[in-house]
Amino acid sequence: MKIGIIGAGMVGSSAAYALAMLGIAQELVLVDHNTALAVAQAEDISHAVPFVSATTVRAGDYSALDGAGIVMIAAGVSQKPGETRLELLGRNARVFRDVVGQVLAVAPQAILLIASNPVDIMTDIATRISGLPPSRVIGSGTILDTARFRSLLGRHLGVSPQSVHAYVLAEHGDSEVLAWSSVRIGSVPLLSFAEQVKRPMTPEVKTHIEDDVRNAAYKIIHGKGATYYGIGAGLATIAKAIARDQRDVLSVSCVMPELAGVRDVAASVPRVIGRDGVIADLIPPLEPHEQQALKESLSMLKEIAVSIPV
Ligand code: 2OP
Repeated sequence: MKIGIIGAGMVGSSAAYALAMLGIAQELVLVDHNTALAVAQAEDISHAVPFVSATTVRAGDYSALDGAGIVMIAAGVSQKPGETRLELLGRNARVFRDVVGQVLAVAPQAILLIASNPVDIMTDIATRISGLPPSRVIGSGTILDTARFRSLLGRHLGVSPQSVHAYVLAEHGDSEVLAWSSVRIGSVPLLSFAEQVKRPMTPEVKTHIEDDVRNAAYKIIHGKGATYYGIGAGLATIAKAIARDQRDVLSVSCVMPELAGVRDVAASVPRVIGRDGVIADLIPPLEPHEQQALKESLSMLKEIAVSIPV
């Protein structure tokens, strides 16, 4: 499969590097208005390829996306220290009006994979601009927050994050909802597992994990100006599920007809992902306070999305 990446900055190039390491694409095409940057990133990544795969990595213009099965959009600006994801909206909405049309003109069959923040609103905007079925416009959503949640739980419990089944729902941002009540380790509910391994989930531990998940990006941006390796691996994971029709369950963003009483809103829930994009939405069982937090997050996203004309 040919995979296109619009935006060769830190997020786009980290996704390209992760894809090259996974070796799932025959060809990766990097497109950026800064041609020199795209060429340099493609060349640098192509030098990693001989160690692991046979992927061709090159820079190109939009016409080079012809035949792409997936096009990632990581174009636009990213957060400055202290800035929320939602504050980027106006600037990135303008970028998308230009980019989405140019992509579809050459790759109308592609699944769009949206990375730019605020990713839920950008997914909504890309869905509206493209006119594609929502199942073919996927935002990275909370895939990264879910990874952060699993990593911290795994560390506390002394177990691999890959054996932690836990999801972060709704906005990829400040109002995200950690679905504590549905966490399982293997098949064992969280509290029971924590008791069995004698690493109890005290209120302090829960608060600490919750804060670290919600504020991870702020801390990293404060320290190094941006986040990119985590989201790069998350984007590559979504692309792998599509390219190999893996039917993985991943928490990603997509416009859904209705959730928690809110209609036509893009937000994350666990979803089955395969060749056709989103194959099914899965709503975990939630406690009333989690359901309420979900509704509040979705209502906020919806209110912002309708205020942006496309
Ligand atoms: C992140 O969560 C900034 O959205 C980016 O790492």
